[in-house]
Amino acid sequence: MTAKPENKSQTAQEQDILEGFPLPGYPATRLRRLRSAGWIREMVAEYNVTANDVILPLFITEGQNASEDVTSMPGVARRSIDLTIEALKPAIDLGLKAAAVFPVVPVEKKTIGGEEAFNPDNLICRAVADIKAAFPGLGIITDVALDPYTTHGHDGIVDDGRILNDETVEALVKQSFVQAQAGADVIAPSDMMDGRIGKIRQMLESQGFENTMILSYAVKYASCFYGPFRDAVNSGGFLKGDKKTYQMDPARSGESLREVALDIAEGADMVMVKPGLPYLDIIKTVKEAFNIPVFAYHVSGEFAMLKAASENGWLDYDTALMETLLSFKRAGANGIFTYGAYDCLKLLNKPLKNSA
Ligand code: PBG
Repeated sequence: MTAKPENKSQTAQEQDILEGFPLPGYPATRLRRLRSAGWIREMVAEYNVTANDVILPLFITEGQNASEDVTSMPGVARRSIDLTIEALKPAIDLGLKAAAVFPVVPVEKKTIGGEEAFNPDNLICRAVADIKAAFPGLGIITDVALDPYTTHGHDGIVDDGRILNDETVEALVKQSFVQAQAGADVIAPSDMMDGRIGKIRQMLESQGFENTMILSYAVKYASCFYGPFRDAVNSGGFLKGDKKTYQMDPARSGESLREVALDIAEGADMVMVKPGLPYLDIIKTVKEAFNIPVFAYHVSGEFAMLKAASENGWLDYDTALMETLLSFKRAGANGIFTYGAYDCLKLLNKPLKNSA
C-alpha cells in the first residue's frame, strides 16, 4: 500500500476505500434508516457550523451615534465606531471570534491615488484601535485595497485607464503598515495585484509585526455579486469600468491554484476564495491541494439574494442561511465571512424548529 499524502481530503480518502468494496444492495442496505429520526441524523452528521466558523463584516462610518441601513442588504447597517462597539457586544456574548472592518470613506477624502488609505489616523485605524481596546480578545481583520479611498472606485492606482500593479503594491504596503500599527490582527489584501503578499510580508517582518497574520484574498473573481457591498461602502457609484484586468475570470479554475501557491510562497498564512456559493468547487480544490486554512466569503450579493427571497416569502432566511453556511464547511472552508454571522450565532443558541 502506498502512503496517502497528508493533505488528501476526507472525501478523496473515502473514495479510495470504497473502490473495490461494493456496497451491499437493497434491502440489506436502506440508506433511509440513518435518516429516520432527528437524534440519529445528528449523531451521524459529518459537518456542522459553530461559532468558530463565522466572521462578521462591519461597515464603519465617521461620526458619533450614527447608523444608516444599507438598502440592498436588509439587516446590515453602516455604523459609527461607538455604535459598532455597541452592536458587537451581543455578538461577542454569543461567541463571535472575529470581525472584518470596512470603511465608508467620505467623498471629500477620496482622491485619485487613495492616499487616505495610509493616513495613520484614518477611520479604519481609529476603528481598529477602539474595537481592540473594547474587546481585546476579538480578532480584527482589515481590508487592504484602495477602492473605498479612490475617486474612480478601483482597487489600485490608475493611469490612463490602466491599473498600475507595482505602484499600487507600494501603496498597499503603506496601507498595511498603518493597519498593523493600529493593532489589526490579520491583514487581508483583497486587491488582486501581483506580488503584494511578498512585499507586505517583508514590511511586516522588518517593522516588528512578525506575528501579524496575512489572509490573502488569493482567489478573487471579477463577480457581479459584489454589487451591494459597493453600495454599502459607497464606491459603486464611483467605479469607472470593471475590475476584470485584476480580479479573476469566472471562466477559469486552474489559475486559482497558481494564485494560492504564489501567495503561500510569499508569506500568506491563510487564503480566501471569493465569492462563496458560486465557487464552492474552487474552495474544495484549494483545500484539497494545500494544507492551509481556507476562508470563504459569502459575499454581499449572495446575502442579498437570501434576504430578497425571504422577504418575498419564497425562502425561510434562517434555514437558508444555516444550509448555506454548512455547504461552505462541506466544501472545506475553515471560516466564513458572512453578513449573517450574528444571525447564525443566535440560531446556534436557539436551534431551528421544523428544520428540514
Ligand atoms: C474591496 C472589496 C470588495 C469586497 C470586499 N473587499 C469589493 C470589490 O472587490 O469590488 C466585496 C465583498 C462583498 O461583496 O461582500 N476590494
